[in-house]
Amino acid sequence: MRRKVTVIGAGNVGATLAQYIVMDGISDVVLYDIVEGLPQGKALDILEATPLYNVSATIEGVNDLSRMEGSDIVVITAGAARKPGMSRDDLLNTNASVVRTVSREIKEHCPDSLVIVVTNPMDVMAQLCWHVTGFPHQRVMGMGGILDSVRFRTFISMELGVSVQDTEALVLGGHGDQMVPLPRFTTVRGIPITHLMSKDRINALIERTRKGGAEIVSLLKTGSAFYAPASATYQMIRAILLDEKRFVPAAAYLKGQYGVKGLFVGVPVILGREGVEEIVELSLTDDEREAFYRSVDAVRSLVEKLI
Ligand code: NAI
Ligand code: 2OP
Repeated sequence: MRRKVTVIGAGNVGATLAQYIVMDGISDVVLYDIVEGLPQGKALDILEATPLYNVSATIEGVNDLSRMEGSDIVVITAGAARKPGMSRDDLLNTNASVVRTVSREIKEHCPDSLVIVVTNPMDVMAQLCWHVTGFPHQRVMGMGGILDSVRFRTFISMELGVSVQDTEALVLGGHGDQMVPLPRFTTVRGIPITHLMSKDRINALIERTRKGGAEIVSLLKTGSAFYAPASATYQMIRAILLDEKRFVPAAAYLKGQYGVKGLFVGVPVILGREGVEEIVELSLTDDEREAFYRSVDAVRSLVEKLI
């Protein structure tokens, strides 16, 4: 049977993600947006490139959410992106109403799907989506940790003059200004960066990672990052569709792991056909735990405003 992924929101992240999925031929795509003509135009444009990719995947642009029926995965990218000077948290109320609406539709039309939430503030929106759909928690997750980790890897590669391919990095916590890049688990070919750089340089790269989204917003001025976010989301889709059992950071529902109960926040997970198949618990140092809890508290305070 053919696979089907619905992408809700045909803006920068959504349309770019749709293109990556179709280019790889891994699944058919339904691209939805509230704006008439926008998903149809972008979908047709992507479809017209498929003969060049040598794939049989198809894409359809729609303004009707019932067309998501039968999707294996639904990705939520609909909502406002931030403008210069805004934090991800400033998007809370506007995007909550969008996520609440589309989550109800997912529950109605796609009760067996997995959902990946991208819309910011992402951890909070994942919690809201789970709350509204009532889906088993392993079927709802948020994309943020992969993006933050690849940003950290990129900055390490630039600093040390080594290929990004030889870097690994781990960022935990909420996808917000309090995120927790972990140098102890960040390596170049297995060598922790704490052996390769001074503490000051590591702290500078951590700060740049935390502000990685804002750096792009301040350059673009009219929107936020989308190539790396779409690529990171695509990695999650692939892991699920191909049952790859990838070890990646993602916002997942914690029910006591890391001492946190009843909250979506970024942790390492094993991602496969069933969604979040396992949450990997690392033992953290006192400083790491303290930073993680600061980030958890920031997510929790936003969740409490909504749910
Ligand atoms: P965009 O403005 O380019 O696209 C958003 C799209 O959502 C627009 O086409 C708009 O018409 C559509 N939309 C708005 N309300 C809708 C509704 N009720 N139903 C369906 N569609 C609706 O924004 P972009 O850059 O694609 O970002 C989308 C979201 O993803 C933002 O909230 C942004 O902050 C977030 N984001 C999250 C990242 C993460 O790491 N979790 C990374 C990058 C972006
Ligand atoms: C980013 O990190 C805006 O969350 C988005 O680029």
